[in-house]
Amino acid sequence: MSDDRHNGFLVVFEGIDGTGKSTHLRLLAEHLEGLGLDVVRSREPTQGPHGLRLRESARHGRLPPHEELALFLADRRQHVAEILQPALAAGAAVLVDRYYLSTAAYQGARGLDPEEILRANEAFAPAPDVAVLIAVPVGEGRRRIHHRGDGEGDLFEREEELRRVADVFARLDRPYIARFDGDQPVDDVQRAIRARVEAHPRFSELRARPVPPPW
Ligand code: TYD
Repeated sequence: MSDDRHNGFLVVFEGIDGTGKSTHLRLLAEHLEGLGLDVVRSREPTQGPHGLRLRESARHGRLPPHEELALFLADRRQHVAEILQPALAAGAAVLVDRYYLSTAAYQGARGLDPEEILRANEAFAPAPDVAVLIAVPVGEGRRRIHHRGDGEGDLFEREEELRRVADVFARLDRPYIARFDGDQPVDDVQRAIRARVEAHPRFSELRARPVPPPW
């Protein structure tokens, strides 16, 4: 369901590994919680059966592109139904580390059509209100992954592959995509992300965190 029939607010964080998206998700979550909003954080691939199978394939050998795509879609269907839709229906600010732009970029980099992938997702998954798409040069992203001790990265993160992924990310075109330069200082990027989120017309409608009953 790619419509706006919920009262929540969906912000997704996208980009190749090493762009700082997880850091920015955490900083934005803390900021929104500080404003008293009800914040739900999540990530894909999930810890569900499909997500676990995908993580396994990242270490031991990737599946054929169509099979991989089918698993990401199955993982997302479950994530949407069990976590995202209920949280959005309850009026929460929902922050997700990777969503369907990653599918368009990573599975698109394997030869599938990114636009078709987007449409397949839009048929069942709520559209983001803001997709924070952070870009750094591929070499810089890999340097940061090494620096934090992730070794070579997994099979999804090989350099040649990543260049193709970054190219697809750069070409994706949806009105909710907001692009940020991850090469800038973290504080500056975070300030720009907050400004973009808070400028959204639906942001001011967000409900405050429910106050727990006094007993
Ligand atoms: P990642 O965010 O790196 O998870 P973790 O750090 O917990 O292992 O995601 C794992 C990989 O999955 C990442 O390299 C990108 C890839 N991916 C896709 O190829 N398609 C998708 O739809 C998603 C959500 C992720």
